[in-house]
Amino acid sequence: MKKDFLAVSDYSPEALQEMLDLAIRLKKEHFATGNKPVFKGKVLAMVFQKPSLRTRMSFDMAMRHMGGDALYISPNEIGLGQRESVADVARVISGYVSAIMARVFDHAHVLELAKWASIPVINGLSDYNHPCQGMADALTIIEKFGTLKDLNVTYLGDGNNVAVSLMHICSKLGANFTIANPEGYDITPKAVEDAIKFAKTSGSKLNFLRDPHQSVKSAHVIYTDTWTSMGQEAETEKRKLVFPPYQVNANLVSEADKDVIVMHCLPAHRNQELTDEVADGPHSVIFPQAHNRLHAQKAVLYKLLAGE
Ligand code: CP
Ligand code: NVA
Repeated sequence: MKKDFLAVSDYSPEALQEMLDLAIRLKKEHFATGNKPVFKGKVLAMVFQKPSLRTRMSFDMAMRHMGGDALYISPNEIGLGQRESVADVARVISGYVSAIMARVFDHAHVLELAKWASIPVINGLSDYNHPCQGMADALTIIEKFGTLKDLNVTYLGDGNNVAVSLMHICSKLGANFTIANPEGYDITPKAVEDAIKFAKTSGSKLNFLRDPHQSVKSAHVIYTDTWTSMGQEAETEKRKLVFPPYQVNANLVSEADKDVIVMHCLPAHRNQELTDEVADGPHSVIFPQAHNRLHAQKAVLYKLLAGE
């Protein structure tokens, strides 16, 4: 196991599968008997430069369920790279706690934290990717379909951080990944290059489309995310003009496989990227998906902290 969890693309398909199997085991254990206190005496520092509901609460509860503790550091406190250099922050925190989970703007900051920290660093979302979300998404898909292999996963909307981690976990674990997005909102080329490499090994097919209708044909999973990510608020109005054709609504869902599941990392902007009808309808798994953040992250923490 690596020291840090910064990207699903850093891990082999076998290591990712092992973490997902562990997540399933820890989830069962959680509901059957409660988890064992394997993190007794361990503390996770949670450093946030952006707001959060799911990431903050699920990491905090993951630590508590397993006998450890978590310390929340709000966006205004540390001033990563402003009040103090990232390298200094990393070395100071390393003397206080057992691991760091960081949500940052600039992906370089999470890489820098990992470089200088002597303890594990977990990426809780950067402008580039969202690997913990990717793990929870894979867990949710596996619970529904048993595997990712040969499934058709379609992402509609902005080629953002969530899309990168979803594309990478799909291309690592053998799911076909399709994205439909407007021009100017493509997934960053470096992430696509990596996915092409992973797909060569796993046999995944990758499709990069503009047409939302073509993208959902035979989809087993339809996934969407906000049109405007945290930090892009100045572009909200401009984006609202471009993205409506990519809205996940009942009409689009009816063009997919009949057993399609609809996913969203949340927070959702209801009746923008996802209609109420679909979010609260029979195909939606958005709440189990959010809950799976807890279970997937327990596995990530276990691998990093319990040394397996
Ligand atoms: N999906 C997700 O990361 O949610 P939060 O921003 O609430 O943590
Ligand atoms: N793409 C979104 C995900 C939020 C969990 C953002 O970065 O704001």
